[in-house]
Amino acid sequence: MNEAMATTGGMAAGGDDAGLIHRLHAAMAVAREAGMIARTAFLNLPAFSAANLKGAQDYFTETDGAVERLIRSRFAEAFPDDGFFGEEGGGRREGDFWLVDPIDGTANFARGIPLFCISIAFVRNGVAEIGVIFDPMQQELFAGRRGGGATLDGRSMRASAITDPHQSTIEIGWSSRLAHEVYLEAVARAKHAGSNVRRSGSGALALAYVAAGRQDAYGELHMNAWDAVAGQLLVREAGGRTNDFFADGGLHNGNYVIAAGAGFYEEMNRIMRPGS
Ligand code: IPD
Ligand code: CA
Repeated sequence: MNEAMATTGGMAAGGDDAGLIHRLHAAMAVAREAGMIARTAFLNLPAFSAANLKGAQDYFTETDGAVERLIRSRFAEAFPDDGFFGEEGGGRREGDFWLVDPIDGTANFARGIPLFCISIAFVRNGVAEIGVIFDPMQQELFAGRRGGGATLDGRSMRASAITDPHQSTIEIGWSSRLAHEVYLEAVARAKHAGSNVRRSGSGALALAYVAAGRQDAYGELHMNAWDAVAGQLLVREAGGRTNDFFADGGLHNGNYVIAAGAGFYEEMNRIMRPGS
């Protein structure tokens, strides 16, 4: 089965499904094309300088804008009625729209660390329908459609079946939007529970890794929609469990993110949000 066929989930496509499958395949192609821009820029990046900082731990690269413009123009040509919202350029966030993070892991990118990705979601009337994440350095494509399963380079993905924290490897994200203490306390709870805790610096890629069963869970106390929505869909389609990111205005204001193998979700929720 090729990559495109695998993500149709074997369903006969008609009506809305056909439109969504068409969009899924378009997003997969656009992610690969945009990824090559990011990859080439990364490989030709000058040495890191403090001039690439917008503020404390806040990085700027021209590549984010270039990648987003390419993705925006491809979707405008192919689906002129769809809206588009990108981390860099903003846009429309209602009805049918694309939700794009051109480079997730910008700090890694700017520092010459090859761990970043392109994240593309398609949202229809408040429901995430498609998620595509492309890692241009590993050249790995994670893709999924609501009800159609999720694939990594065309092969079906399954989230982890681990339930015992002592066997778990999890990732906890940190962002400058929240106080350090809440991050440190979550890491402490995870360590006391017996988890191996990582932080890679690309929340979107971390979610794709949960979908692929490479790690058992991802948690972060605040993420923006463009970082989280595609990856959370992949986790659900791989049989894992996530919180409802769109609850409480998450699309516009961001939200907490918990994504895990189904049997580890409650433990991860306890680690990230004790008493909730
Ligand atoms: C950030 C990364 C990071 C996560 C932050 C995000 P950016 O996105 O995903 O891992 O912890 O919450 O803002 O700035 O690299 O696009
Ligand atoms: Ca991001």
